[in-house]
Parts: sequence; C-alpha cells; structure tokens
Amino acid sequence: MHEVVSNEMLAPNLHRMVIKAPRVAAVRKAGQFVIVRLEKGGERIPLTIGDADPVGGTITLFVQAVGASTKKIVNTPVKGFLRDVVGPLGMPTHIENWGRVVCVGGGVGTAVLYPMAKALAAAGNEVTTIIGGRSKALIILEDELSVFSRETLITTEDGSHGRKGFVTTVLESLLNDSHRSPLSVFAVGPVPMMKAVAELTRPYQVKTIVSLNPIMIDGTGMCGGCRVLIGGETKFACVDGPEFDGHLVDFNNLSDRLTTYREHECRLDLQEKESMEAA
Ligand SMILES: Cc1cc2nc3c(=O)[nH]c(=O)nc-3n(C[C@H](O)[C@H](O)[C@H](O)COP(=O)(O)OP(=O)(O)OC[C@H]3O[C@@H](n4cnc5c(N)ncnc54)[C@H](O)[C@@H]3O)c2cc1C
Ligand code: FES
Repeated sequence: MHEVVSNEMLAPNLHRMVIKAPRVAAVRKAGQFVIVRLEKGGERIPLTIGDADPVGGTITLFVQAVGASTKKIVNTPVKGFLRDVVGPLGMPTHIENWGRVVCVGGGVGTAVLYPMAKALAAAGNEVTTIIGGRSKALIILEDELSVFSRETLITTEDGSHGRKGFVTTVLESLLNDSHRSPLSVFAVGPVPMMKAVAELTRPYQVKTIVSLNPIMIDGTGMCGGCRVLIGGETKFACVDGPEFDGHLVDFNNLSDRLTTYREHECRLDLQEKESMEAA
C-alpha cells in the first residue's frame, strides 16, 4: 500500500500527487515510469515518475484524469492509499551534454518532460523550454521548468498566454536562429504534436527524441500491448522505450492503435457515471 502524501490540482483535471514509494524513489532515473493500480483487480495505469525524493522516500506523479481509472486515482485523498506502484519501468532518458537543447511539452506531456529537462540541465545542457496548451489554464509547470531553463517560451492556441499558435511555430524560429538553434530536441505531448515536431526537425537533421504513450498492460515486454513501429521494426515501448528517435517513429500506426479500445473506454465511463448517480 502506498500512502498519498499530497494531492493538488495544477490545471483542470490534472493533479500533482506525492506518493510514498521508497524503493522506487531510491533507484528511479529520468524518463522511467511506474504502473499504478488503485485497488485489487483495478486497471493498470502507466504514469511517468515526475520527480523523486530518495531521502523522504516519495515520488511525484502528474496525473491527468482522462478516464474511469485516472479519475479514481486523482480523487484519492491525502492519507489515502494506492494499492500497487510497480517500477521503475522503462529505459531511462539517454542524457548527454549536447550543448543547446530544446524541450517541448504539450498538455500533460509537459509533466513527462519535466524530469527529462531537469536531468538535461543537470548534465550541463543549456535548456530552452517550450510549453504549449489550448489556453492559459492548461499551461503547467511554467515556474518549475523556468528554474533550470535558459528561457521558457509559452504558446497557447487561443492566445490567452504567451504567443498565439502552436509550439512548432516557436520551435521553427529557434531552428532558424543560428545563436539559439538546438543540437537536440526532446518533445512530449499528444501524438499529433510529437509527429509535427519530428517532421519540422527532420530537414534540419536535429536529433529528436519523443516519449510514446501506447496502451500498456503488463509493462514487462510480455503482453505485446505496447507494440510500436520504429524504423520499420517492432519495439515494445515498456522495455525498449518509452523514448525513441522521433524521425523513426510510425506515428500513424501509434494513433490507430490508441483508438482500439475507445468504444470500451466510453462504456466504462458510462458505467462509472451510472454507479455514482445510483450511490
Ligand atoms: C509510459 C507512459 C507514461 C505515461 N505517463 C503519464 C503521466 O505521467 N501522466 C498522465 O496523466 N498520463 C500518463 N500516461 C497516460 C496514462 O497512462 C493514460 O492516460 C491512462 O492509462 C488512462 O487511463 P484511464 O482508465 O483513466 O482512461 P481510459 O478511459 O482507459 O482511456 C483514456 C485514453 O487513455 C489512453 N490509455 C488508456 N489506457 C492506457 C494505458 N494502459 N496505457 C496508455 N494509455 C492508455 C488511451 O489513449 C485512451 O484513449 C502515460 C502512458 C504511458 C504509456
Ligand atoms: S506493456 Fe506489455 S509488452 Fe509492453
């Protein structure tokens, strides 16, 4: 059992939760994730380890309530418990000192980007962060990322904060500026955003790393649920990733696989709503 130490809402439906998990906190590296089960028989939910305090024995998770199980997780109060927190899973982020790097986060992807950006800065890279969202309320971790970013650039689709438009507009201007152009780009966010970033950097031949979020079940490479196509080869995101070279990812295949269970998820959401109304 893993106690919830704190639980705060950062943006609509997005919570920062600090959880007691001393064994995970002691060994986790940037880029790794845990699989959480709220209760016996519950759904297994992969969540990136946003931060860790090895001394206090806690990990930080950023959880976006998108469906029935994540809604239940974010509703767990302080001093409540998550039954299982399994990890750390996945390959850590490959960290080098490239010099200038740009980290691009979209929506909840910004939370997944946070440990990567922090580790890149700690390795001596000059980090520029671009955070994108639909509107101001959905921009998260701006202050936290600014602590170790040389500049933090914001884009919103409605223009309510930062520059109006997409993260790619700002990234393109950096790629075209010889004083600010990155030697590596890290992008985490919705699949169309990561695809657009990879297509933008391809002609510039700038190494681009993306963190993929396929459906995961066991997280051990056994079930095959998280198959992704990388440079024409099948890889399992849970053990070979979740980070891959964005120029090699088959994003169309990933998008198709992510919609496989949509009908089933809608049914689960409806059942949950009905049982809450009946209670
Ligand atoms: C390596 C990895 C790291 C992730 N890190 C985070 C994170 O830090 N914070 C966060 O909020 N989310 C993260 N996710 C996504 C999160 O796991 C899903 O949003 C969650 O599983 C949805 O569960 P649900 O039952 O509430 O929603 P559902 O109603 O089941 O699904 C809603 C949508 O979530 C996606 N999804 C559903 N089940 C899974 C699954 N088992 N694996 C992946 N995606 C799924 C599907 O695209 C689906 O359309 C991560 C996913 C992966 C693979
Ligand atoms: S989640 Fe089962 S193989 Fe990756």
